[in-house]
Amino acid sequence: MKSIKVGVCGVGNVGGAVLENLSNSPEIVENNGGVKIDVIQVGARKGKSAVSFDLNVTTDLLDVANNPEVEVLIELIGGCDLAKDLVETSIRNGKHIVTANKALIATHGDELFELAKEHNVQIGFEASVAGGTPVIKALREGLVANKVNWFAGILNGTTNFILSKMSDDQSSFESALKEAQDLGLAEADPTMDVDGTDAAQKASILSALAFNTPHNFELVSYGGIESVSQEDISYAADLGYSIKHIAYGSIEANEVFVSAYPTLVPNDQLLSQVGMQMNALEVNCDGLGSTVYYGPGAGPKPTASAVIADIVDISNGGWPVSKNFASKNLLSKESQQGFSRYFNLTIKNEAGAIAKVSSLFASKNISIEALIQNESKANQADHTHVPVVIISGPLTDEKAFEMTKDLHSIDEIAQSIKQFRIHNAL
Ligand SMILES: NC(=O)c1ccc[n+]([C@@H]2O[C@H](COP(=O)([O-])OP(=O)(O)OC[C@H]3O[C@@H](n4cnc5c(N)ncnc54)[C@H](OP(=O)(O)O)[C@@H]3O)[C@@H](O)[C@H]2O)c1
Repeated sequence: MKSIKVGVCGVGNVGGAVLENLSNSPEIVENNGGVKIDVIQVGARKGKSAVSFDLNVTTDLLDVANNPEVEVLIELIGGCDLAKDLVETSIRNGKHIVTANKALIATHGDELFELAKEHNVQIGFEASVAGGTPVIKALREGLVANKVNWFAGILNGTTNFILSKMSDDQSSFESALKEAQDLGLAEADPTMDVDGTDAAQKASILSALAFNTPHNFELVSYGGIESVSQEDISYAADLGYSIKHIAYGSIEANEVFVSAYPTLVPNDQLLSQVGMQMNALEVNCDGLGSTVYYGPGAGPKPTASAVIADIVDISNGGWPVSKNFASKNLLSKESQQGFSRYFNLTIKNEAGAIAKVSSLFASKNISIEALIQNESKANQADHTHVPVVIISGPLTDEKAFEMTKDLHSIDEIAQSIKQFRIHNAL
């Protein structure tokens, strides 16, 4: 049986699970993948104490990148500083790379793939999006014969867990987040999950594969779930929707728009059924229609599963870094795509107030598909105001932000106005 010599850098959650898998049950990979994966060096800042297996450990991670015996460097430290240095040094030394680092690929993907192409090596990054669910392989290989129209995905398990708990158990945002942390599903500092950065980075990586765009995370627009309240979830449910954090990419006439926002998903669509910490990606292609990929999107074992699959892939010849860098589609920040919208307003409980709101929509030529004034959801102590939810016809992001601003100028509207997209899978 052939063998491949690897060096693992970073022995945290994922690195630890990779070593455990390869040490405890190597026969599974050998039988299924036809290759013996030989871990010949481990880079761990804490040295031997971080590694529970009898392996050659160095505390200087660049030793691994410079070790002439190592054929594949497995980067599992995260971040963009040392990780980039490690990856670049390894590529220059003729090594293939496997990484789970979405921040690195989303931010520096183009330069790293160019460098890899120059040195005729490969970069496996399956673990960087949707953990153990092989969405990269699906997009890059399984769907290679198709033109992708759009993708929509639930790509962050932490936020999906929080939104599911808020919906299923009527938990508050804070207690759902705390539960996610207690279960090890959210970081001690969950900022990048909650504010949408993590999902946006993953969407940027998917966009490069789906639409051949540059890796330019700065052109991805995104928002987090902090603004989603129990009240929004309840309104959405009354109207037949679930609120999910949806990463979205689409192409129109060579222009690609990528974003990640809290979004209402109709309950008859598969993405609405994706609960707890699970991930899912729907990819819509010309001719083929939609395919959906569902599974665990994070966690040490699922992520290690994707890392090991990439090592096997590389040992079998892999998927060459052969994209034509000269013919990329344009990635644009301002989406021209229209989405129906959910507006949540609090309006003074007086005659003519709602009429003012309706006439603002009419004056902008924006249709109102539904308007709900729900006294039962009003603050019982405050009879001066009532909550109103409006479902509008399709609006681009720019027009939706403009409309929100205009609504703020109506004296009878109090408090902050919320606006979310509604996913339309057509
Ligand atoms: N955890 C998941 O479920 C998951 C899922 C998908 C992708 N990922 C990605 O996988 C990568 C690793 O995540 P993780 O959860 O395993 O992180 P982690 O538990 O924090 O492990 C990171 C490891 O890298 C080491 N490290 C970090 N910076 C270092 C530096 N400058 N010098 C030397 N060692 C350094 C840490 O050493 P110390 O222990 O000494 O700090 C630790 O052993 C990240 O890119 C992450 O985004 C993780």
